[in-house]
Amino acid sequence: MPRQNQPENHPARLSLISRHLAPVYPINTPFTVERHPDTIDTSLLPKTPSRSLSTSSKMSSQPAHPTLLIPGPIEFDDAVLQSMSHYSESHVGAGFVATFGETLSMLRKLFQTSDPSAQPFVLSGSGTLGWDLVAANLIEPGEDVLVLGTGYFSDGFADCLRVYGANVTELKAPVGTKPQLPEVEKALSEKKYKAITVTHVDTSTGVLSELKDLSALVHRVSPDTLIIVDGVCSVACEEIDFDAWGLDGVVTASQKAIGCPAGLSISMFSGRAMQALQNRKTPPTAYFASMKNWTPIMQNYEAKKPSYFATPSPQLVHALHTSLSQILAKPLSERFAGHKAASDKVKKAIADLGLKQVAANPDEQAHGMTAIYLPGGVKGADLLPILAKKGVVFAGGIHKEIVTKYIRFGHMGVSVLDPKRTDIDHAIKALEEGLAECGYKKP
Ligand SMILES: Cc1ncc(COP(=O)(O)O)c(C=O)c1O
Repeated sequence: MPRQNQPENHPARLSLISRHLAPVYPINTPFTVERHPDTIDTSLLPKTPSRSLSTSSKMSSQPAHPTLLIPGPIEFDDAVLQSMSHYSESHVGAGFVATFGETLSMLRKLFQTSDPSAQPFVLSGSGTLGWDLVAANLIEPGEDVLVLGTGYFSDGFADCLRVYGANVTELKAPVGTKPQLPEVEKALSEKKYKAITVTHVDTSTGVLSELKDLSALVHRVSPDTLIIVDGVCSVACEEIDFDAWGLDGVVTASQKAIGCPAGLSISMFSGRAMQALQNRKTPPTAYFASMKNWTPIMQNYEAKKPSYFATPSPQLVHALHTSLSQILAKPLSERFAGHKAASDKVKKAIADLGLKQVAANPDEQAHGMTAIYLPGGVKGADLLPILAKKGVVFAGGIHKEIVTKYIRFGHMGVSVLDPKRTDIDHAIKALEEGLAECGYKKP
């Protein structure tokens, strides 16, 4: 039947489009598709930028906009953003090859590895592509993987591993916590696993998993098991000492604490992981995500030799080069301390407001984000638009068991490290005022 103009569908279409335009609605996830209002309050749609939206007139040279304080993407530094407007160049030309090569070498410093057998990868794609890399290259169909279950993102990693044929055991923890070391030890002594995966910061709960002791445990109890870290919400804001902790893989993305636009999957694999790739009895079960296809390309770029398997994104690689240059201009310890200080401030403010965090145990609280339970009677769907009007964008819940009960505050990158910015103070004030406007009285 020919498609006809259906004016009555207009609001529905506008609703769909607005999900991309208006940052103020709680996101839809596979668990939350039902909870969007049918009607749209168009006053919430972005308008011509107005200076009054900006949290600080000195914020940047970017057009005024509400400050993005979700747990990624995050606010951009001007120089990172501007490096995207590099003129077009060949992805195999000497200029870009040098930039890409330096970028890969800088990643070794960010992950704190000096082991020449460790291999960085920068591929076009989002953080999820890192899961595919692990599942398609390091695990063969039928092999056992132990997934430490911390929430939405560890569940996603487990699903991805299953898609490629892994035999997954999930060691799940109650919402707001992580599997404890004795449970992990028990699981590892009961079965031989090819790999264990841990979500360093589960962005659905703000739970931080400690890596150093976990890794020592795995090396002691099950030395052949590869230790794979989802560092999408931790790399560049939580300490990761790749060599010293004996990690085998850390996968991350450009848009969180690294502070780049979204679009790059960034990972580091140990010599042991690369050997596991070489030792496969069967070929990798992906084509674009085949590390066998990409390894020579990454090695050539780092050696400043042109190479091609699939076209990289020069603009994004320029942005990553700029952000890594900025990150590495200071000791990493300062960067981690800066995130901890901002996180302590946010968490104290949350407690002073009489609110509770999803991650209840202070030792298990991430430093680049905070997941905050809403007080009784306050709905995220009411509070988030009020915050947006005050120039602050927070995220709604995403963990299926508590999805409507909490909100998420991202505090990573320039918003916490640039001393000229007042984003965090402004956000705390907006939260206090917004809650009061929703009828909340702090105890
Ligand atoms: C911990 C974690 N893992 C994986 C992902 C997936 O990354 P992306 O959305 O970039 O595909 C995310 C996204 O927020 C995440 O927070």
